[in-house]
Amino acid sequence: MTWDPRSLPDLSGRTYLVTGSNAGLGYFASEQLVRAGATVFMSARHPNRLSAARAAIRRRVPDAAPDATEPLILDTSNLGSVRSAAASVRGRGGLDGVLLNAGIVHPPKERETTIDGHEVVFATNALGHYALGGELLPALAAASGRMVWVGSVSTALTPYDPIDPQLAEGYSSWRAYVQSKVATTALGFEADRRLRAAGVPVASIVAHPGYSTRGRTAGITGVNEPSRVKRFADNLQAAIAQSKEHGAWPLVRALVDPDALGGEFWGPRTGTRGEPRRRTAPRITRDEAIAARLWEVARTATGVRWPFEKAAAVTRGA
Ligand SMILES: NC(=O)c1ccc[n+]([C@@H]2O[C@H](COP(=O)([O-])OP(=O)(O)OC[C@H]3O[C@@H](n4cnc5c(N)ncnc54)[C@H](OP(=O)(O)O)[C@@H]3O)[C@@H](O)[C@H]2O)c1
Repeated sequence: MTWDPRSLPDLSGRTYLVTGSNAGLGYFASEQLVRAGATVFMSARHPNRLSAARAAIRRRVPDAAPDATEPLILDTSNLGSVRSAAASVRGRGGLDGVLLNAGIVHPPKERETTIDGHEVVFATNALGHYALGGELLPALAAASGRMVWVGSVSTALTPYDPIDPQLAEGYSSWRAYVQSKVATTALGFEADRRLRAAGVPVASIVAHPGYSTRGRTAGITGVNEPSRVKRFADNLQAAIAQSKEHGAWPLVRALVDPDALGGEFWGPRTGTRGEPRRRTAPRITRDEAIAARLWEVARTATGVRWPFEKAAAVTRGA
C-alpha cells in the first residue's frame, strides 16, 4: 500500500492514547491523528501544558469535533499515576492504539530516583510504559488494537547491554538514555512475542523518529517556542535533522497503517529523516535473552503482571 503521511486514512470512530502529548513528537502525533478524524486521549504530567497543547490542536485543526481530544493526566515516572490514568481509560471501553512516546530526552547529569525508588530515566521511558501497556491490555484487546513503543537511533550508535538497567553503578546521562531506549525497544519486541504466544490480538510495534529537533519545527504557542539561537544551531544540521512533525510520521504509521505488523520496526527512510519505512532494529534490541531478562526486571520493578489470559478472554467474548 502506498502511504502518504500527509494524508492518512479516515480514522473516524477510532480512539488512541498518546503519552507525552503536550510537546514534541507526541503533540504532532496527536495532531495528525485528530486531523484524520480520530479521538485522542492527550496525556501529560502538567495540566497547564496539556491545556495549551489541546488549545493548539483546536486552532490548527478547526474542523475537528469539539471532543476530538480528551485530557488525561499521566506521569510515566510515577506508577500510581500510570495505574489511575489507565483505569480511567479502561472505563471508557475499547482502545484502538496507544503510542508509548513520553520520555526524558536530556537526562540529569547525576543519577536521580523517582518516588517509587527507580532511576528516573529508566522509570520514565521504559518502566512506566511497560506498566501502562499491561494495564491497558484488556482495552486494547477489546478493539484488536496495537501498541507502539518509541526507540532511538542511539541504540545503534552505542549498543549498551542494560545489565544494570537502573545504573546503580557508573551512571552517565548518555548511558541512562541509551539503556532506557534499548530496554524500551527490546520490551516492545518481547511484548509482541508474548502476545502472539498467548493468542491476544494486540500487535506490539516499535518505531523511531530519526533525528527530530525543535529548531527545525514550526513555532506553536505553548507547544514549541525555540529561541533564535536554537533555531540557528538546529538549522546547521539540516542535512541530517528533520522537524518533529515529520519525526512523528513513523510513529503514527506504525499505529494506524493496516500493513504494519506486530514485531516490526519503523523509522524514517534515511535513518535520521524522511518518509516512514520498515527498518531493521539494532541487533541488541532483537536479542531474545536480553529482552526476556528485561521483561522480568520490569515486572518485578513495577509489580505489574500483564493480564494475557484475561485479555485473550476479552477477545473471545468470555
Ligand atoms: N527527537 C528525537 O530526535 C528523538 C530521537 C529518538 C527518540 N526520541 C524519543 O521520542 C520521544 C519523544 O521525544 P521528543 O523529541 O518529542 O521530546 P520532547 O520534545 O522533549 O517531548 C518529550 C515529551 O515527554 C514528556 N515527558 C517527559 N517526562 C514525562 C513524564 N514523567 N511523564 C509524562 N510525560 C513526560 C514531556 O512532557 P513535559 O513537557 O512535561 O516534560 C513531553 O511531552 C521520547 O521517547 C524520545 O526518547 C526522540
